[in-house]
Amino acid sequence: MSPDADAAPVLQGIEPSQYPRLTVPRRAGPDPRFLRNSWYVVMFSSELEAGQLMHRTILNEPIVFYRKEKGGIAAYTDRCPHRSVPLSMGKLCPGDRVQCIYHGLEFGPDGQCVNNPHGTGNIIDALHLRSFPVVEKHTLIWIWMGDKPADPDNIPDYSCLDDRPELHVTRPGYLNVKAHYTLVVDNLLDLSHINYTHAGILGNADAVKAEVDITQEGDVVTASRNSTDTETPGILKMMAPDLPRGSLWNSISWYAPSNLLLQFGMSADGESKESGTGYYAIHFLTPETERTTHYHYTASRYNVLTDDEANREMRDLIYKMRTFAFADQDVPIIEAQQIALDQASEEVEQALLNVDAGPNRYLRVLDKLLREEGS
Ligand code: FES
Ligand SMILES: [Fe+2]
Repeated sequence: MSPDADAAPVLQGIEPSQYPRLTVPRRAGPDPRFLRNSWYVVMFSSELEAGQLMHRTILNEPIVFYRKEKGGIAAYTDRCPHRSVPLSMGKLCPGDRVQCIYHGLEFGPDGQCVNNPHGTGNIIDALHLRSFPVVEKHTLIWIWMGDKPADPDNIPDYSCLDDRPELHVTRPGYLNVKAHYTLVVDNLLDLSHINYTHAGILGNADAVKAEVDITQEGDVVTASRNSTDTETPGILKMMAPDLPRGSLWNSISWYAPSNLLLQFGMSADGESKESGTGYYAIHFLTPETERTTHYHYTASRYNVLTDDEANREMRDLIYKMRTFAFADQDVPIIEAQQIALDQASEEVEQALLNVDAGPNRYLRVLDKLLREEGS
């Protein structure tokens, strides 16, 4: 692929003809635009216990979550319409009601005020709160933030979290990243950084020359980078102890606006990807604000070749190694990028390399979707 192939960037509504072909203007400061008609991960299902009120800020909106007595999850604005106290500080009462801790207004699971203990008890329209569609799927809680109908069938397929033994799926991980969510998506769709930032753990220098291949189906963008006769990265050596070298497979798909699925594995040279072993690396990015991001992650192994005893230990090790790679290697870089962009007084021209084809393609699709929504 030539350096400028697929490089025509689209950012912040600026036409490619308006800036030099081999640079990308990046907004100074955080981009305030969020795609609203979309499913976002709130948390793993296991994090929300019955009888508990939980707060999450999503797309700048404070939201309270709790499980309803007969199944399903309530989600509505976590700001009392009286004096703006978070309702998540209040009490969950029988009948799926939340009582505000300050003056006792009560709200039902649809955000409607159902009891005003003061004066005549009049309930005016201004006491009702906005609620949000929420579903549980693939061991996760998803929220729909837009006004269009919410169709759970549009949640990307993460069935690799549902259909395999517990020992093959690592425990849930969470980081709060102090950066705009697109900087984290850039990082994940850019498979080339693995060989530098995560050298030895997730990649090696001998894969640097491998081609990056970009495909797009509808709005789903996939970046692949495969190499043969490659040293097996550290984390895969545990899963494929008899394969010190071979074909390394990296293929990551982006589902708008910010959910990703990476297939990462090794096989013997000349053999298919499926004949080897590895894992699906799963990344969910949900904007909290313009400069903070909820980052949920886990991993699900495929074609497991090791026994249960080894898998028990490996389950924990995979979690720890990936958490180290993200928390100690990626996040400091991404947060420093955000600071550097914030320090710029005007748009920054970023030079393009051929490895940027993946990030550029998804940014183009995201820009199109934002425009369709009127952002
Ligand atoms: S602040 Fe909630 S009832 Fe007054
Ligand atoms: Fe990384």
